[in-house]
Formats: sequence, C-alpha cells, structure tokens
Amino acid sequence: MTQRAGRQVVRKAVVPAAGFGTRFLPATKAMPKEMLPVVDKPAIQYVVEEAVVAGLDDVLFITGRNKRALEDHFDRNFELEEVLRIKGDDERLTMVTAASDLARIHYVRQGEPLGLGHAVLMAENHVGDEPFAVLLGDDLIDPRDPVLVRMLQVRAECGGSVICLMAVPRASISLYGCPAVVETGSGDVVIVTDLIEKPDVAEAPSSFAVIGRYVLDPAVFEVLRATKPGRGGEIQLTDALRVLAQMPEDAGGGVRGVVFGGRRYDTGDRVSYLQSVIQMACERPDLGPELRTWLKEFAAELP
Ligand code: G1P
Repeated sequence: MTQRAGRQVVRKAVVPAAGFGTRFLPATKAMPKEMLPVVDKPAIQYVVEEAVVAGLDDVLFITGRNKRALEDHFDRNFELEEVLRIKGDDERLTMVTAASDLARIHYVRQGEPLGLGHAVLMAENHVGDEPFAVLLGDDLIDPRDPVLVRMLQVRAECGGSVICLMAVPRASISLYGCPAVVETGSGDVVIVTDLIEKPDVAEAPSSFAVIGRYVLDPAVFEVLRATKPGRGGEIQLTDALRVLAQMPEDAGGGVRGVVFGGRRYDTGDRVSYLQSVIQMACERPDLGPELRTWLKEFAAELP
C-alpha cells in the first residue's frame, strides 16, 4: 500500500450537469438533460442515489444556466407535501421527500462550458485535498451491480485514481475515452498506462471504454489546471488522467481500472435513452408485467 492509499476516506461526489443537452432539444431548452425522466425519476436522482449507497452523502453539482430545476428537485416542496398529506397519499409523499432527504447537495456554476475536465476543476474549492468521486449522469448503473463501491475499495487498497472500464464492440470505441491497460493478475483490476479520448477505431489501444464513474486523487486538480484543450477543443478529463497514469504514486499518480461487467444504461442519446427507459421499466415489479405483455404484442407486429 502506498502512503497515500487508504489515508483518506472518500466522502464527496461531484456530478457535472452543465451541458446544453443539445441532443435532446427542445426538451432541454429550459431544463437540464439530467432532469429527463427515466421511467418516473429524473436521471440525476439515480446517480445521487448511487453515490449515497456508496457512502458519499456530500454531492456537488457543477451546473450551468439551467440549474433551477435541479435545485427545486432536491429541495423540499412544502405545498405539494401538504396536499399529499391532506389526501393521505403517504406513498407519494415518501417519493417527494426522498429526493430532498438524500444527501447534502451543493452547487457551483461552471461559467463557461469548456469541457468535462474544466467542470471537474470547478469542484476544487469544495473538494479540497481529498480523494473524490465523479459520476456522469449519462451513465446509469444498475443498483444490483454497485461498481462505485468496488472502485472505492480499490482506491482504499492502492491509492491513486480509479476509473471504470467496460468492454465494448470495437466499432463504438470512438464514442468513449479508451485506455491502454496491463493486467494485474487480480481479477477485475487493471493498471492503466495511457488514455486517449474518443480515438479512431484504428488507433484505439484496447477495446475498453471509460464509463462515467471516476474516483480521483486530488492531484488531478493541479494536472487539470495545466491541461490544454484537447479533443473537440475541450479540456478533457481523459487527458488529465493520462498524465496521472504516468505520474509517480507518491505524487498522487497511478490510475487503475475496474473492469465492469454489470448492467449499465446509457441515456446519452435519444435511441439509447429510449432503450434504457424500456429496459428499466420492464424490470420494475409495478410496471414490468403490463409493459412486457404489451411490448411482445407490439414487437410481433412490427414490420
Ligand atoms: C465522457 C468522457 C469519455 C467517457 C464518457 C463516458 O464523454 O469524456 O471519456 O468515455 O464520458 O460516458 P461524453 O460522453 O460526455 O462526450
């Protein structure tokens, strides 16, 4: 174990939510895409629930202009609560208060949308000199496969930073960050030696995609401050991780990957979003049976 490993418990989660959500316009004209419902909950609530289950009850949202809906969602709504209380609708009352009671939520604005790396840098003041997690709202992880918990274990054992990797068809690697890895011989953990943001298929160093869960050493902040705009003219978190992967461990460097084979739902574009909603609804005990029956009939009649 390195000196830095296990020294500090991870308590804080950072959730970037400042994107324009252009792929979902006009739905995202006046509200962040993170508020789009996945079945009957905003996508962002699943992400906050995942952080809380992993023991991170301090959540910082990096927001843009549309933060109002987020703030309202994670705040109390006394009028609505009163109406439900008078009606005796305890079930819905619990649902409504659940979001506001989840975690200590904080907000900081990104100002200019200069990329994911820049968004993470905005968290520096709040996070300070502690390791922290970053959760991206486009990736929803099934609560039955708690990969963040596993990543936190790896950070506690090894120090450095930990990223989440999934094997994907090679043809889709250019949608993701892609690492070069070395096996450690210990099951699901690999050592990351290099990373490229959204490489062409021919240049991809592996078939692993970086999924939107990160446990980062605070050394990332200094690296991000020096990171120049990369792919798409944006300051990329992947580029900072590349530097961390090559830095000595006693300076906060070292990047490991946890290879995740569980259930992940992608809400990042319209088709995968619709697929995720259908998949998740099919698994719900209250909606699944009716929906599955209908879906089979519907699918049988498709041209
Ligand atoms: C971001 C990261 C990318 C990662 C992806 C995971 O890209 O830059 O490295 O693979 O999230 O969802 P985005 O999808 O925001 O363009």
